[in-house]
Formats: sequence, C-alpha cells, structure tokens
Amino acid sequence: MLITIEGIDGTGKSTLIESLKGELADLSPVFTREPGATWVGESVRRAIAEQIDPVTEATLFVADHAAHLATVIRPALAERRLVISDRYTDSRFAYQAVTLDGIVPQPEEWLRAMHNSWSIVPDKTFLLVIAVDAALARLAEKSGREHFERRDVLEKVQGNYLRFAQEEPTRFVCVDAQKERKEITRFVADAIRFTVQSSRSRHRP
Ligand code: TYD
Repeated sequence: MLITIEGIDGTGKSTLIESLKGELADLSPVFTREPGATWVGESVRRAIAEQIDPVTEATLFVADHAAHLATVIRPALAERRLVISDRYTDSRFAYQAVTLDGIVPQPEEWLRAMHNSWSIVPDKTFLLVIAVDAALARLAEKSGREHFERRDVLEKVQGNYLRFAQEEPTRFVCVDAQKERKEITRFVADAIRFTVQSSRSRHRP
C-alpha cells in the first residue's frame, strides 16, 4: 500500500509526517521522501540551490523518482509493507508544470508521459491545503528559501494540486492544513488505518 502526502511549501507537511511516525508505529510503515531518499537526491538539491535550467531540474526530479522506486518503494511494496512518502509524482505534476511553463509546450502532459507505464500510482494521496498567505507566513520564519517559495509560483502549484484532487476524487483526500496540528494528525492517521483495513478485507480470500 502506497500513501503519499502532498501540498505546497509551508503547509506543515514535515510536522505531520513526524507526528504520524509515532501515531502509526504499530503498522511499521516505511517512511520515505522525494526528493532525497537516494543519493540522486543530492543532485536534485544542488539543482534547486543553483537554480539550474528548468528542464535539467525537472529531469533530475524524475531521475530521483526512478531511483526511489527501484531502491525503496518497489522492494518495500514487494514485502507488503505500508509505504508513506513525503511528496511523490504529484509534486512533479504540480510544481514542474509551473517551472516548465513556456519552456516545453504542454508541461503537465510531458511530465505525465515521462511517468506513464513504469511509475506506481499511489493508493491514497493526502493533499494539505492552506491559504497561500498563511503558507508564506510560515515560510518567512525559516531561512534559506527555495525558488519555488514565491507567491505566484505557490498559487499556481496549489491550483494544480486542487485540480488533480477534483480529477481523481477517489485517490485524493484534501486536508485543511490550517486546523490544529493534533486534529490533522488524528484525521490523517485514522484515514490511513481505514485505507489499510479496507484494502486488507478486499484482498482476503
Ligand atoms: P523538500 O525539501 O521536500 O521541501 P518541503 O519540505 O517543502 O517538502 O522539497 C524541496 C522542493 O522541491 C519543494 O519546494 C518542492 C519541490 N519539488 C518539486 O518541485 N518537484 C518534485 O517533484 C518534488 C519531489 C519536489
């Protein structure tokens, strides 16, 4: 079972993941992330920091995803583990559709085509949704901002995410990221348990 957690920068995604580690410990999930679960992620971090050409950056994100699938996700799923990934394919479809706008003709289609037939679609995706102003206020508290963390970029990225959630209402669960931290953790943890249990009962002979 593959669960992914998505959202723009500044939604409190990392804090949620930390809380889920404690909350779901009995299910022994494999917690992982994109970018950076493998050494390829180091090139991605460098590309982000140096603001390299957007096609190079996008293809490095895809390379990181390929390595992530091969070395972490596929082996864990083969062992029937629960995998929870902090960002995954939808990050590319939401962010790189913006960074590649005007550079490749139909960026989202281009990006989706690159993933088709070899990537794995998540079973459930939790999308943390927050007003862009609130996200920017949270980001203002941290130093070393990335080039994605600008109002115009984040507004477009969040617009993309919300469209994906509308297009795939069974896979996506939208979460109000402005609620209390404890309430968000409880909601997401319960929803993950429910998803795991219903999948187990479906697959029982
Ligand atoms: P990360 O360090 O995980 O930031 P955060 O803690 O906000 O999740 O990711 C770095 C940035 O990379 C983040 O702004 C989102 C962006 N990103 C993409 O643009 N495309 C992608 O495919 C992924 C995985 C991340």
